[in-house]
Amino acid sequence: MHWGSGDAVGHDDEMPAQIVQRNFDTYLISTDPARLDIREVHRFLSTEAYWAIGRPLAVQERAIEHSHLVAGAYSAEGEQVGFARMVTDLATYAWLCDVYVLADHRGGLGTALVQTVVEHPDVVGIRWQFLATRDAHRLYAKFGFAGLDEPARWMARQSPAG
Ligand SMILES: CC(C)(COP(=O)(O)OP(=O)(O)OC[C@H]1O[C@@H](n2cnc3c(N)ncnc32)[C@H](O)[C@@H]1OP(=O)(O)O)[C@@H](O)C(=O)NCCC(=O)NCCS
Repeated sequence: MHWGSGDAVGHDDEMPAQIVQRNFDTYLISTDPARLDIREVHRFLSTEAYWAIGRPLAVQERAIEHSHLVAGAYSAEGEQVGFARMVTDLATYAWLCDVYVLADHRGGLGTALVQTVVEHPDVVGIRWQFLATRDAHRLYAKFGFAGLDEPARWMARQSPAG
């Protein structure tokens, strides 16, 4: 764990995730953080993703650096066309977030991306996995995600300093 990580931009490599690669159609999906085009991931999320509009580049870099698992989707030309990340303690909880596929590349790739993350060896045995979505419930339902049984038990906090 890094307390006060300075200016380094990269990926938290204390227990690096095993790199998994798979093909979907003409696309490559890879969990190698070194392949990521972080500026392109940030461009999409900060301008087109309703939950991350205006997110600063430094925040996106830090989020990626400290996410155990990242997955990128790449076109045959090697362009970054999709992304997802999983934040987890590797034991009890995992949080799936920042999932997207560029509009011209949608139609199956989102499913392949989420599958790659939830079937990753570091994730598959974690009992409780969470996410929030406005309208993509059908995508995640394929992998067993469902609405909360007892939403009254759940609380969320937005830090005034965040
Ligand atoms: C969500 C997203 C990643 C899905 O990518 P994709 O390549 O279209 O995914 P798939 O084709 O594998 O879709 C899987 C299923 O989810 C459904 N789905 C995907 N996006 C949806 C949306 N925005 N609203 C409703 N349903 C959606 C599809 O209809 C499909 O269901 P089906 O197989 O029963 O027809 C893509 O639409 C996207 O990037 N959207 C903008 C960002 C976003 O909303 N991300 C999700 C945040 S939780």
